[in-house]
Amino acid sequence: MPNTLNKSSLEEFVWKPDLFKDKVAFITGGAGSICRVQAELLVLLGAKAALIGRNAEKTEKAALEVDQLSHEPGSVLGIGNVDVRNVQQLKAAIDKTVERFGRIDYVIAGAAGNFIADMTNLSAKAFKAVVDIDLLGSYNTVKAALPELVKSKGSVIFVSATLHYTGTPFQIHVSAAKAGVDALARALAVELGPLGIRVNCIAPGIIGNSEGLSRLSFGTKPEEYTKRVPLQRVGSTKDIANATVYLFSQAADYVTGTIEVVDGGAWNLGTVMGSLPYPDLLLSHQKINSKL
Ligand code: HXC
Repeated sequence: MPNTLNKSSLEEFVWKPDLFKDKVAFITGGAGSICRVQAELLVLLGAKAALIGRNAEKTEKAALEVDQLSHEPGSVLGIGNVDVRNVQQLKAAIDKTVERFGRIDYVIAGAAGNFIADMTNLSAKAFKAVVDIDLLGSYNTVKAALPELVKSKGSVIFVSATLHYTGTPFQIHVSAAKAGVDALARALAVELGPLGIRVNCIAPGIIGNSEGLSRLSFGTKPEEYTKRVPLQRVGSTKDIANATVYLFSQAADYVTGTIEVVDGGAWNLGTVMGSLPYPDLLLSHQKINSKL
């Protein structure tokens, strides 16, 4: 179970209550480990939120749970059966959110897909699936939300990664997708800036209790990574939530087109993910898989 927040969690944070009163957040991947806690902190700070996901049951359950933190019951909406690869489904989710809450101020494009695979085991379809979810899905999310963001002079956060700052083995697909997400953020910041819309990325490092880490750990326990992190601990979902609040708040009014790396300094030491089984796992293939 990922770390989640409770009603008294706000005492642990530096933010003032009601910071996001009357604001509405639209969060893809909002039922997942990292984005759920981003949603929780926004809701604790007074925002309303729509959590968007593919799995309807998981998304609706998460929304009910996050709503327990809200100032006013019914402030969190779960919208399932939405695949970010489908812009029409996203548009319908935007419409539902606006129908319920009247506006959208903040968008978090957090839905992502990932798995460990080296090139010989990564089909063209598998590469496309991840690029479509992570990169096209991020574009689609902003595309569908744009009319609302224009009205509210809103703000966007893409959830990126640090994998592509170096060559990370077994993560070709995600690295390519997240490099694209960073480029998307920079270009959109330039295009949407004149409309008063800010666009930034958060690049999480190794976040304990996250789905990403459990999928990519190669059997390594989070504690085993700590020596590879300059700040000597793995990150928490609260670290990402704090960066989110900063980027959406007025404190970041002049900040757009940035990539906020929240990794304890880890990427400066080079790639961590996948470095343990490298290169033995690659060299262990008896023959190159010829499946496309
Ligand atoms: C090799 C794989 C594979 C694996 C799927 N595929 N899993 N190939 N190794 N482990 C291949 C399939 O065989 C198929 O190709 C192609 O990918 C598409 O698979 P589908 O199952 O049809 O696609 P889909 O249902 O769209 O699933 C998308 C998915 C899946 C990304 C492939 O893993 C998924 O839905 N994941 C859930 C969400 C998720 O991953 N969350 C983690 C986010 S963490 P072929 O050619 O065989 O038909 C995260 C962190 C990133 O993103 C940064 C970390 C630091």
